[in-house]
Amino acid sequence: MALLKIARMGHPVLRQPAEMVHDPLAPEIQGLVADMVETMEDAGGVGLAAPQVHESRRVLVFRVPAGRAETAESGEVPVTVLINPGFEPTDPRQDADWEGCLSIPGLVGKVPRYRRIRYWGVGLDGATIVREAAGFHARVVQHEIDHLDGVLYPERMADLATLAFTSEISRQAADPADTPTAA
Ligand code: NI
Repeated sequence: MALLKIARMGHPVLRQPAEMVHDPLAPEIQGLVADMVETMEDAGGVGLAAPQVHESRRVLVFRVPAGRAETAESGEVPVTVLINPGFEPTDPRQDADWEGCLSIPGLVGKVPRYRRIRYWGVGLDGATIVREAAGFHARVVQHEIDHLDGVLYPERMADLATLAFTSEISRQAADPADTPTAA
């Protein structure tokens, strides 16, 4: 296992659509995922997509910490690996909330995302995962899948006036659960 270098906004790998993985069980994919989980945890993030570690493949990892599980239906989610993932909204409504990104350190912005989605992908064991998600859980998955399509959250922002330094927003947050997390 190894910590991987995280690409920052401006690096072309973050703008490039990532390639499908043909064999999720290949040792190189298994190794990449192990390193991505280690890198995400070391960086204190809640999600990481392979292009963020300079691997243009459709692989992402994420987790929903207990502190961010605001409703029972979006409860705590342990580290999850999705290979070749996709999603569809199950409710047309979107909510705007804070998002950060490990590739855009120090900044956050309010990003509209679908409130409820169904998402799918292949797990590390090769089995298909299909889940319903809401709230923060749904937000993280949408953020990470965007990375696989070369999209960063500022492009999704409806109001660039909400772009802010994380330290300023954290200082103003009454509830620590409102502190933005990076993905
Ligand atoms: Ni990100």
